[in-house]
Amino acid sequence: MTLEMPKARPGEIRDAVMRALVDAEENTLSLREIISSVDDALGRRVSESSIRSCLNLHTPEVFERVERGRYQLVLTPPIDPAGSQPSTEKPLATVGKARLFYADSLEWLDQRAESSIHGIITDPPYGLVEYTSREQTKLRSGKGGVWRIPPSFDGHQRSPLPRFTTLTTAEIDNLERFFRSFGEKALRVLTPGGHIMLACNPLLSHYVSRALDLAGFERRGEVIRLVQTMRGGDRPKNAHEEFADVSVMPRSMWEPWLLFRKPLEGTVAQNLRTWKTGGLRRISEDQPFGDVIRSGPTRSTERKIAPHPSLKPQAFLRQVVRAILPLGEGIVLDPFAGSGSTLAAAQAVGYESIGVERDAEYAALAADSIKPLSEIQLSGESSK
Ligand SMILES: C[S@@+](CC[C@H](N)C(=O)[O-])C[C@H]1O[C@@H](n2cnc3c(N)ncnc32)[C@H](O)[C@@H]1O
Repeated sequence: MTLEMPKARPGEIRDAVMRALVDAEENTLSLREIISSVDDALGRRVSESSIRSCLNLHTPEVFERVERGRYQLVLTPPIDPAGSQPSTEKPLATVGKARLFYADSLEWLDQRAESSIHGIITDPPYGLVEYTSREQTKLRSGKGGVWRIPPSFDGHQRSPLPRFTTLTTAEIDNLERFFRSFGEKALRVLTPGGHIMLACNPLLSHYVSRALDLAGFERRGEVIRLVQTMRGGDRPKNAHEEFADVSVMPRSMWEPWLLFRKPLEGTVAQNLRTWKTGGLRRISEDQPFGDVIRSGPTRSTERKIAPHPSLKPQAFLRQVVRAILPLGEGIVLDPFAGSGSTLAAAQAVGYESIGVERDAEYAALAADSIKPLSEIQLSGESSK
């Protein structure tokens, strides 16, 4: 009597190999380790030759051979689910005065004409790894990875947070290098006197500030978004009861937005005349733009429209976007556009904007979210 091997569902082995690589501690696995994970996942023995042919079939598109017999997942999916190809030239979507590119912003910035952007508002990736496709695959499958998934309470699921405290010295060096290089590219495309405002956090803002200084920007202060976050405030791990009166770090109740300016040509007035940039737009005749803004967490109506893990609220964004163009003229850029919330804010205040997002799912989300986010009515709004 011959024993029949159960038939594999199409794609089952490939999915099990992907899952094993997503969970791998060092992100790579040997062929032996892959075979044993796949056996565990499928609850039966899969022949080595089936796994070898699966790896051969999907390398280099899905898997990458890092050294003899070791594999990892490729970092950037070559084609997005909707079938669009990344492009620095052709926008993925145009919504009102907003143009959205599905592209890598560092490449996009290199293609862009010098002095052709009037202000940059952005919320960049900080861990640098948290928005790689590997970490996004973990997050999307509910695994967490570098993302801390806070416990849910009151029946509410909390949004995942990147774990910045786990960055190593080498990752911090990378972070500084990344912001130096990004800063140099951003400086080139900004008009003289153009401002850049970046969302940051108190643990990393000094590294980012220094990198932008070195890139050639002038520091112009910080805008404090007053917001109760879920960061900090925890008791010591595994000793909650023993040290019930201790928090390891303060519960963070603010978020710094770093403000920098490209050096002026001449005086502020001359720069404003030539380039339309150099200052910040006042809230009203009597009220200058201030550096503390009261804010709440992003509202559930916005999160339903644009379920991005780092979605920023329209109420806050519309204020900073409005301020970044002193005469209300020019183009606002968000090079790490996520769900397109900055573009939506620009649309709401009547500005032209450009967004660049390199993750296919988020780019598609942004294309659908800009309009509904921009149409949200905020109470007491006088932002136009
Ligand atoms: C912190 S999130 C911004 C989310 C945004 N605040 C929102 O409200 O939707 C950063 C985004 O930058 C994207 N990203 C990371 N590196 C990028 C790159 N080199 N070029 C373009 N986008 C990038 C990530 O995919 C992520 O969506």
